[in-house]
Amino acid sequence: MTTQTTSKKLKRTHNCGELKESNIGETVTIAGWVDTIRDLGGIIFIELRDHSGRFQIVADPAKNKDAHKVFEHLRNEYVAIASGTVSKRPDGTINPNLETGTIEIYPNEMELLNKSKPLPFSLDQAEDVDENLRLKYRYLDLRREKMQKIFQTRHKITQAIRGKLNTLGFFELETPILTKATPEGARDYLVPSRVQEGKFFALPQSPQLFKQLFMMSGFPKYYQIARCFRDEDLRADRQPEFTQVDIEMSFIDMEDILSAVEEILIDSFAVAGVNIKGPFDRMDYDKAMSLYGSDKPDLRFGLEFVDVSDIMAKSEFKSFADIAKSGGEVKCLCAPGMADWSRKDMDDLKALTMSKEFGAKGLAWINFKTDGTMSSPIVKFFKEEEIEEIKKRSNVKPGDALLFIADKPSIVAQALGRLRLHLGEKLNLIDKNKHSIFWLVNFPLFDYDAVEKRLNSVNHPFTAPRPEDIPLLDSDPLKVKASAYDVIYNGVEIGGGSLRIYNQELQSKVFKLLGMDEETARDKFGFLLDALSHGAPPHGGLALGLDRLVMLLTGSKSIRDVIAFPKTQTATCPLTDAPSEVSEKQLKELHIRTVMPK
Ligand code: AMO
Ligand code: AMP
Repeated sequence: MTTQTTSKKLKRTHNCGELKESNIGETVTIAGWVDTIRDLGGIIFIELRDHSGRFQIVADPAKNKDAHKVFEHLRNEYVAIASGTVSKRPDGTINPNLETGTIEIYPNEMELLNKSKPLPFSLDQAEDVDENLRLKYRYLDLRREKMQKIFQTRHKITQAIRGKLNTLGFFELETPILTKATPEGARDYLVPSRVQEGKFFALPQSPQLFKQLFMMSGFPKYYQIARCFRDEDLRADRQPEFTQVDIEMSFIDMEDILSAVEEILIDSFAVAGVNIKGPFDRMDYDKAMSLYGSDKPDLRFGLEFVDVSDIMAKSEFKSFADIAKSGGEVKCLCAPGMADWSRKDMDDLKALTMSKEFGAKGLAWINFKTDGTMSSPIVKFFKEEEIEEIKKRSNVKPGDALLFIADKPSIVAQALGRLRLHLGEKLNLIDKNKHSIFWLVNFPLFDYDAVEKRLNSVNHPFTAPRPEDIPLLDSDPLKVKASAYDVIYNGVEIGGGSLRIYNQELQSKVFKLLGMDEETARDKFGFLLDALSHGAPPHGGLALGLDRLVMLLTGSKSIRDVIAFPKTQTATCPLTDAPSEVSEKQLKELHIRTVMPK
């Protein structure tokens, strides 16, 4: 085809997937892509597909020669438009797997609008092909029914969120993309300035500082469906470019923010057919860390940590006793039904626990066999009353296994936390019908960065300490809790926020505690400090990870499935081949020279 003609005669009247038996007898025109073709002895059956679903059109040379001629030329993903009368399918030809499987059209008129080259992968097997290939031909991948559904749900969730925020009186406002770095803990994407030689913009890791400036500008409630950019290690729930539902409010307390966010979430879950109720439960950071080793515990199952440090400290098992007596911890999980695992199974689990990802130095276990005996590499070290005490505390039953990790508290939390999640899946402990949503509160304001030998913000540096903890900033900053909160859904952090510092002296003090001298603080955040000293109202907010939310609500395994044009794990776009090299001329204009690593 060298010319491009839209059909002069035919115009779409209905969507393929929306035709029903009630349309029988009506003349309709549908358009879309050829999904499947079956030629049964001259009669050709085609499923035409659009965003709404599929519909069967049939060409019988005995009934309509012209239409049949067009059908003969059709191949997968050709674009066609067809007009005809909806009829009931004859008995025996009904397709129960298709929404429109009881009806069909024998087109009176049929036009081929465009051809397609042979496909790089068959769309019904897209799930099995290399993801890079799917992403290179993302427009084909997105044509699939499953992907269309995901993005329709994404649209509905976004609209539900906008609708709720609008009724709650929020203003939708925009913030710059070419800006200065906002510290959210990742590396920045930099954009060189041509005009200002040798200077760079940073793409925003979030609109954090601008939304605070909106509060100082007198807007009482702000929201934005905002794009954020973070150069960080990518995972299944992390993209370098992602979308936040970003909100901020002034003259409010924490309860106002939490209840607004609960309302938004209840509405967006409803769109996906999930009924949740407010107010959400709350859990303390300290409790989450001590029972689950995570600040985003999956509470769809138990398997809580049992602390046996005190028992071990007094025991004769030297490795554990030494750790327990020198500020470390010994904790265990009581894994149901694991006592009959073989020695090899246990050794495999031990190897996993000692992998870099888990980070433990070992894994010890006691298997409590159903016949009353124990099998364990460590049981020989313990007195009977110690075993009794461990049994009592862990509530272990015959058939269960206790799995122990001893180390610094942070390592125990990480390793046992991962082991808990691993066993949750492996032992089928997770109730997949359950929806666990709650607030994690009372985060520490700082943690200690052993490499840099200084304090770090757990959240970001603009987070307010709890008012009652402000005196501790001088005496014991690591004890200070933040007025911060995360919302956790099924073990994923779907949002987080805080009340902000609105007093300039307090903000300067926090910068100082973070090891920033006055000059650096002014250089990086002078505009914020200025704004704080010109009548800043009390304010706070939160950002929801929209992509994560959609991922969870559509049952998708990867965040890449819910972003139309995502980046790969190595932060590239196979579709456009970005990032790519640029011409010498462009580099020169920007005063940039690239030096490749040897
Ligand atoms: P935070 O950094 O916690 O907070 O981000 C808020 C939410 O955004 C999502 N998220 C991501 N989603 C996909 N890919 C990523 N790389 C990624 N990083 C974060 C998470 C997270 O809960 N300015 C603050 C918010 C505030 O204080 O108001 C902020 O950005 O779901
Ligand atoms: P050992 O005394 O080093 O021979 O260890 C006996 C058992 O305890 C082995 O199964 C080790 O894997 C386990 N073990 C040793 N150190 C630790 C640790 N820090 N945490 C958990 N298990 C450990």
